[in-house]
Amino acid sequence: MSGHGPAQPLTATKSGPLTGTAQVPGDKSISHRSLILGALSVGETRVRGLLEGDDVLATAAAMRTFGADVTRSEEGEWSVHGVGTGGFAEPEDVIDCGNAGTGVRLIMGAMATTPIAATFTGDASLRSRPMARITDPLALFGAAAYGRAKGRLPLTMIGAANPVPVRYTLPVPSAQVKSAILLAGLNAPGETVVIEPEATRDHTERMLKGFGAALTVEDTPEGRVITLTGQPEFKPQSIDVPRDPSSAAFPVCAALITEGSDVLVPNIGLNPTRAGLFQTLRDMGADLTFENEREESGEPVADIRARFSPDMQGIEVPPERAASMIDEYPILSVVAAFAEGQTMMRGVKELRVKESDRIDAMARGLRANGVTVDEGEDWWSVTGRGPGGVPGGARVEARLDHRIAMSFLCLGMAAESGVTVDDASPIATSFPVFQPLMETLGASLRAENA
Ligand code: S3P
Repeated sequence: MSGHGPAQPLTATKSGPLTGTAQVPGDKSISHRSLILGALSVGETRVRGLLEGDDVLATAAAMRTFGADVTRSEEGEWSVHGVGTGGFAEPEDVIDCGNAGTGVRLIMGAMATTPIAATFTGDASLRSRPMARITDPLALFGAAAYGRAKGRLPLTMIGAANPVPVRYTLPVPSAQVKSAILLAGLNAPGETVVIEPEATRDHTERMLKGFGAALTVEDTPEGRVITLTGQPEFKPQSIDVPRDPSSAAFPVCAALITEGSDVLVPNIGLNPTRAGLFQTLRDMGADLTFENEREESGEPVADIRARFSPDMQGIEVPPERAASMIDEYPILSVVAAFAEGQTMMRGVKELRVKESDRIDAMARGLRANGVTVDEGEDWWSVTGRGPGGVPGGARVEARLDHRIAMSFLCLGMAAESGVTVDDASPIATSFPVFQPLMETLGASLRAENA
């Protein structure tokens, strides 16, 4: 998996109108956590609606190597027979997490307080990403990590034999770092405390409570203080994974910029720590409605309806909203290109250490397609060209980044000339059915050699 097959160029040309219903896959964050928490419980956890993308399948394989029994029924329901907190067995081989930052970082946390060794690797994108942000706090529990410079993968982690609980203030707004610490805290005696000055996605907290952990969250002037009591009796769960708002963003945004479109995207998780994009789009004047709002498996869920929105205006995106839409800035920048005026995005340094440097990847690709972009270390702005006003016509690099690939394909659906992505294969990490789903809505997509 750490290798990469032949590049699969894909071109999107002027499409639409996009109409119909888009059933996007299960939430990636919740899917990873379902498998990992299931593997840490004794008994059977059942998971419906799991995202069967490469990232999550790598986590399923990893849980098997740590001793859990993970199976899929013919109907697509997943079952995890876990080994209990502290029960991970030592893997016999290197664990390849593919492209998945969430997978590798959460799994490192989950094993860091068990006295076993494990070696992790991934694809070229994952091997270039910083891991010291994870290994530094895990060292406080007593775990040791030996990786390349800045803790980069491949990396061997040796779990603590006598873990101690930890109190840690997050230096970066990262749900992956928070979650790794909480998962490590499960097998440490006493209270592990994580303080996050800026709230990030809280699926781990919600799910830990669901599995029976004693966990409290307090809002204080320092930020959110999360306190977990270690060594809980975990009860296996039955989980319905909501559909992924980060995947929903693509058909929603494609509909907003493509003339005549009207698309319904049902059963989308709308946890407030994830829903910043939809608020931002509404602030820009997008025709977006939430229908059938309800709660499922502890998460708020709704059906989203998006219609072509020719009157969108550029805005200054509130920086305090960044964590709740961190994966959505690439597709937001595409929408911004079709709005009137400038969209300014500040406080987004984390975008530089995602699957790719997402500011650089989007800025170069947008400029090549005739859109003006300015950038600094932790900000960027897009000057909109109005509805239908983006020339397009360029070939862009996906850089092993699924969200960059999908964003530029959405750009191509509404631009005057088609846009080619040099390699669409990374889309399989999070949204394996992207191409057929978008084609069913009316998108024109063509593989280079098809
Ligand atoms: C994720 C957290 C975010 C996000 C990633 C998924 C998670 O990363 O970008 O796609 O599931 O916890 P950071 O924690 O690095 O911000």
